[in-house]
Amino acid sequence: MGTFALAPNAERVRKNIETMSGFTDKSKAGWTRRPFTDWYRQGREWLRKEMAACGMDTRIDAASNLIGRVPGSEPDLPPILIGSHTDTVTGGGRFDGIIGVIAGLEIARRLRETGTVLRHPLEVVDFTAEEPSEFGISCIGSRGMVNNLSEDMLERKDQAGLLLKDGIRLAGGDPDLIGLHARRRGDVALYLELHIEQGPVLEQTGRKLGVVTGIVGIHRYRVTVEGKPNHAGTTPMDMRFDALTGASAMVLELEALCRETYAEQVVGTVGKLHVDPNAANVIPGRVEFELEIRSLDTDILEGIMRRFKERAERVAAERKLAVHVDGLSKSEAIRVGSEVRDIIRKACEQTAETTELPSGAGHDANQLARIAPVGMIFVPSVGGRSHCPEEWTDYEDVALGVEALARALLMFDEKM
Ligand code: GLV
Ligand code: MN
Ligand code: MN
Repeated sequence: MGTFALAPNAERVRKNIETMSGFTDKSKAGWTRRPFTDWYRQGREWLRKEMAACGMDTRIDAASNLIGRVPGSEPDLPPILIGSHTDTVTGGGRFDGIIGVIAGLEIARRLRETGTVLRHPLEVVDFTAEEPSEFGISCIGSRGMVNNLSEDMLERKDQAGLLLKDGIRLAGGDPDLIGLHARRRGDVALYLELHIEQGPVLEQTGRKLGVVTGIVGIHRYRVTVEGKPNHAGTTPMDMRFDALTGASAMVLELEALCRETYAEQVVGTVGKLHVDPNAANVIPGRVEFELEIRSLDTDILEGIMRRFKERAERVAAERKLAVHVDGLSKSEAIRVGSEVRDIIRKACEQTAETTELPSGAGHDANQLARIAPVGMIFVPSVGGRSHCPEEWTDYEDVALGVEALARALLMFDEKM
């Protein structure tokens, strides 16, 4: 660092991350900023003002993404986008998503402070609701930006009865214009994102920067298991139709399937269950759970799901229960193109010790890849922890990531 003209102001980046972490729902553990809440709105309003203060034109697009734009010297060129998200999981950390947005803001400031004008326009994007939302969908804003938000998705309701399309309206978007205003191939020169790794590889290999080679696809389903509610004290063990013990057996089948050997790693998780009626003295009559599987190989995901359904039906038949599996959402796996990877690797190697690795987490880049080349840089996650309050990345490492991102931006701007 040091001699690079656009090197970030590391102290300012740290302060910005801390400021954003103040906009959180204090009634929850860790850091919680769910989309469409007041904390989310406040965080975004602060961000919009910071963007405006460094001379960016700011706007909210039809899908409700917040965008700050810096003009380029060749206005006919499509923009380069730098983005990520400021929503968090419930009980999450301070870095996931946030550092990518702050990185874009810091680069825009450094461009202005150094009088550097890019050839391409630069757009810094805070994508709406990247994490799994109460509507059963992730990456709402980036899906909308590339016209991958279906009518059916827009009509989904959260627990409070809010329709997704009304949530988008409340966040300043216009769901009726999403299709019309969507970006298409050629509209975006390149999408870049800085993110924490959220896993242990960089720390274990002693590298500060990671060039992302690909991002897993994520397939999510809702599984409903129906039995019969009955008295927990008077019903003998062999006369029960317990939806929760059946669902538990299905969860274990998923774990067993994902532990079998595959050409690519595959992981499966059930992280959300609703038990009905959820009372200590009533045999559960109905369980709904959300299941997700992830891999870089779509065939593997489809194969696992076929086998999961067979096993779930077998469990249901043995226990005289009913089971239904409904699709919630799919994001497809992507591979980062070798030209983009080569440039990002060069930018990272000029900055710090670098390695290449795939991403087991999903990102807005999965969506942007539908219309543009994408590239991502990772910085280390201490202990490989993320989606929990312990999530931590040293601020010096965040600054290295911002520097590598700025170097990559300049290289692409010159070349594309
Ligand atoms: C996003 O954080 C995801 O990988 O679920
Ligand atoms: Mn993220
Ligand atoms: Mn996340």
